[in-house]
Amino acid sequence: MKKIVQKYSECIGCGTCVALCPNFWEMGEEGKARPKKGKKNPETGDYELEVKKVECNKEAADACPVQIISLRD
Ligand code: F3S
Repeated sequence: MKKIVQKYSECIGCGTCVALCPNFWEMGEEGKARPKKGKKNPETGDYELEVKKVECNKEAADACPVQIISLRD
């Protein structure tokens, strides 16, 4: 499994992740994106989602202009 971690508080809501990887990303109420079915870590405020395959999340992580999406083993 891989874990997608997004520093939610630093998202500027550009929507690139949603455009490149709509199966995994959606825009939320605050004009920020988040991973669909992701869980907010209460300690860090980051959104986290475990996935079997990284798929388009790699492109989303590479393209995020503020580089807040990371993929961890
Ligand atoms: Fe936010 Fe980066 Fe997506 S700024 S909208 S997480 S591409």
